[in-house]
Amino acid sequence: MKFDAIAPGVYPELIYPEYKSTLRRGPVQSALRIVAPVPTTQNIAPSPRILLPHDMDLTAHGEGEPLGEKIVVTGRVLDEDGKPVRDSLLEVWQCNAAGRYRHKRDQHNAPLDPNFNGWGKMMTDDEGRYRFVTIKPGPYPWGNHDKAWRPAHIHFSLFGNVYAQRLVTQMYFPSDPLFDYDPIFQSIPDLAARQRLISRFSLEHTVSDQMLGYEFDIVLRGRDATPTGI
Ligand SMILES: [Fe+2]
Repeated sequence: MKFDAIAPGVYPELIYPEYKSTLRRGPVQSALRIVAPVPTTQNIAPSPRILLPHDMDLTAHGEGEPLGEKIVVTGRVLDEDGKPVRDSLLEVWQCNAAGRYRHKRDQHNAPLDPNFNGWGKMMTDDEGRYRFVTIKPGPYPWGNHDKAWRPAHIHFSLFGNVYAQRLVTQMYFPSDPLFDYDPIFQSIPDLAARQRLISRFSLEHTVSDQMLGYEFDIVLRGRDATPTGI
């Protein structure tokens, strides 16, 4: 079954020529339905013990404060009926304020920050809410085409409540001038669906004089699903 049969235009084109690597890796045959060998309705229920002390504060991984704008990101993970997805594991990863990932394949001519790794994880609470503190990531060049720069974004992995729900997506920031030029963002056909990838500035979640707040809700399925597979 194609994703489009569920929510037209919400999921990215698997082969989107402007996003060049999809030409090499995009599937050329239809997807097959897999009969799962294990129950897919069973809650993963990961133990909170897998969380390390600073997993929810990406600014606390070094000996000092990382460079850049400290922010807090929060939101709720919901199913297609708007019900909270509780006790669910989320992982996030991102580049630093200068637009550099701590990864050997990232050779972008921008500095690494000794006080910033760029990864974290957390669990949703009874309301399906997650929250983490980080540094606002910078845009970075990625070589897809001339002047190809990614809009600032944070990668999310969501396990949902069962293994078969595991999804990845990207969160963006409001009013980024690079949206119109980014083939990854544009590979999602539906305009309203693309907008659901953009976080909202939140005065409510802004913390006094410490950091601005951004809110990003994630809907796993259904008409209001957050685009995933990006
Ligand atoms: Fe990225």
